[in-house]
Amino acid sequence: MAITSLPAFFILLSTHCYITAFAVILRTADKNPWVNEFDYVELSCLIESISTSNPRIEWKKIENGKTSYVYFGKEISGALKNRAVLRQPATLVITNATRSDTAKYRCEVVAIEDEKSFDEILINLVVRVKPVVPRCSVPQSVPAGKVAELSCVEEEGFPKSKYQWFRNDEAMPEDPKTSPKFLNSSYTLNPETGSLKFSSVRKEDEGEYYCRAVNDAGYSECGPQMLEVYHINVLLIVLGSLAVGLVLLCVTVGLCCAYKQGFLPSEKETGSNYASPERGDGVDYARTDEEGDFRHKSSFVI
Ligand SMILES: *[C@@H]1O[C@H](CO)[C@@H](O)[C@H](O)[C@H]1NC(C)=O
Ligand SMILES: *[C@@H]1O[C@H](CO)[C@@H](O)[C@H](O)[C@H]1NC(C)=O
Repeated sequence: MAITSLPAFFILLSTHCYITAFAVILRTADKNPWVNEFDYVELSCLIESISTSNPRIEWKKIENGKTSYVYFGKEISGALKNRAVLRQPATLVITNATRSDTAKYRCEVVAIEDEKSFDEILINLVVRVKPVVPRCSVPQSVPAGKVAELSCVEEEGFPKSKYQWFRNDEAMPEDPKTSPKFLNSSYTLNPETGSLKFSSVRKEDEGEYYCRAVNDAGYSECGPQMLEVYHINVLLIVLGSLAVGLVLLCVTVGLCCAYKQGFLPSEKETGSNYASPERGDGVDYARTDEEGDFRHKSSFVI
């Protein structure tokens, strides 16, 4: 038993030694580093094992399916030129990261004197960008009971900003029902889009509103803006319309009466209307008031 298993043991031992002695093996301290924009970051590429004395080291950037050189022929190239250095043995150090550095980076080491002469390691770098001041829109004045829509947009932040709204310096919960202060408010708040919408705004919703755009790198706020809520008094509107209607009615009736009683200038006096002869009726009415005048007029017509 012991004798048959002995060669297997030797093979195992020799394979192990063989790998450690004649293979290049890489390792990283951080596969998913992140950094705030304009900060320093290391893309660590450590050589765990190597026999070759002068290995070829390359760094490539992989972004949107395209691969470009970052470190090649012992020089930094491309967009990282003057912003990065190689630190022995193979770590890439970016001294002033920008948002466009967000990408995958591949450290490749070729060691021709090793049996396993190639190894590579992929590193995913995220450069976080602090949000800029968001663009906020708050309606100045909204009638009570109507829809009011507030919006907040920020597009520089990376990862993409999320949004918080404040009323009179107080954070508004995503769901108004979770806070006694906002319990009866009709709003819905979308932290992904920045929209704050009241389906039926109340006088209590009046106040100074501002929005905050937040991500992992920090936050920015817009200045507070006043939302005013006014009441449309329905009773006043109804009474007002009634009053106007009454006045119009009185004027109409008054005009009719005045016309019928002959207080308005009659076309008869112009003498240029076909209706003139029929005005005799109108003159009859006048008779009750001033008989003398009627006679005078009658004789005049005849
Ligand atoms: C980093 O780069 C930005 C713009 O490219 C520049 O404004 C800033 O001064 C740089 N920071 C350092 C520490 O070099
Ligand atoms: C909410 O409405 C209820 C009933 O209409 C009322 O009793 C309560 O006081 C209101 N709460 C607030 C905070 O306005």
